[in-house]
Amino acid sequence: MKMETMSLKMMIFAATITILILATTSPTNAQIAAAPSLSPSLAPAPAPPFVNLANLLSVAGPFQTFLNYITQTKVIQSFQNQANDTKQGLTLFVPKDSAFSSLNQSTLSNLTSDQLKSLLLFHAFPKYYSLSDFKSLTDTPLNTFAGGLYTLNLTDATGLIRVHSDWSSPKISSSVYSTYPVAVYELDQVLLPQSIFSTTPLVALAPAPAPDISPASDLAPSLSGSSPKSAESVNNESSAYAVCIGVLNYLVLAVSGGFMLML
Ligand SMILES: *[C@@H]1O[C@H](CO)[C@@H](O)[C@H](O)[C@H]1NC(C)=O
Ligand SMILES: *[C@@H]1O[C@H](CO)[C@@H](O)[C@H](O)[C@H]1NC(C)=O
Ligand SMILES: *[C@@H]1O[C@H](CO)[C@@H](O)[C@H](O)[C@H]1NC(C)=O
Ligand SMILES: *[C@@H]1O[C@H](CO)[C@@H](O)[C@H](O)[C@H]1NC(C)=O
Repeated sequence: MKMETMSLKMMIFAATITILILATTSPTNAQIAAAPSLSPSLAPAPAPPFVNLANLLSVAGPFQTFLNYITQTKVIQSFQNQANDTKQGLTLFVPKDSAFSSLNQSTLSNLTSDQLKSLLLFHAFPKYYSLSDFKSLTDTPLNTFAGGLYTLNLTDATGLIRVHSDWSSPKISSSVYSTYPVAVYELDQVLLPQSIFSTTPLVALAPAPAPDISPASDLAPSLSGSSPKSAESVNNESSAYAVCIGVLNYLVLAVSGGFMLML
């Protein structure tokens, strides 16, 4: 009797697991296939996901100031074109809004449009680098998108990666997006090259008051309709993915536990 109850329980248990596996894997096959480590046997490599930089920067961050600058100078087209290039890819350093508001107002408004473009292009490498790639590239000047005069050095102090320009050395405070061929990293300061700023640009002592970041709000109304939704769906997607992986891990444990019970 006891054995029968046991095997009945085991059958119910196995059936439940089967249902759970079917329920969790079927809607997320695409996500699982997209993770290279989980699909070593799939012959045709899946096409890298298309990344729309304007959408990404409008939902991540706050990066409105940087997004406004690259939009008004059309530098975003060069970045997007490079992001579309699946052979080389793009690494983009995006200073937070607070990084811009801590600069003296006239620092950027004094620049010619060519200087402003160079400054923005200086915030990118025309190549994809993961954070671990940076660890092997420290202390070597790397060419930015702005051309030969504009290089950045990277240093890695036990995991804290800093990006060195002549007048600032911000740390990478967050990895916003990093899936080949596109990487977007958050900086806590604007990168300031000597080729543009012959002397140290003055940095305001206190963050500028709210009205001073008004350029950022120029784009806000047109984006406000779609941004919260996209932000939500981005979060939902990643948490659904995390939950799915969690459930799968649990199932692997449960299944092996089941086999151990049977032995
Ligand atoms: C990048 O690729 C997308 C999707 O294929 C396309 O719609 C867009 O026009 C491309 N943009 C640039 C700047 O190449
Ligand atoms: C901006 O230009 C004005 C007028 O040419 C000058 O007085 C000011 O010092 C400049 N500011 C910076 C931060 O270079
Ligand atoms: C980058 O490193 C080179 C030498 O490796 C050095 O000459 C240069 O001054 C450094 N630049 C910055 C901005 O730290
Ligand atoms: C900003 O720059 C101007 C002109 O160089 C200077 O007079 C002013 O004190 C600076 N403001 C701050 C907060 O550094």
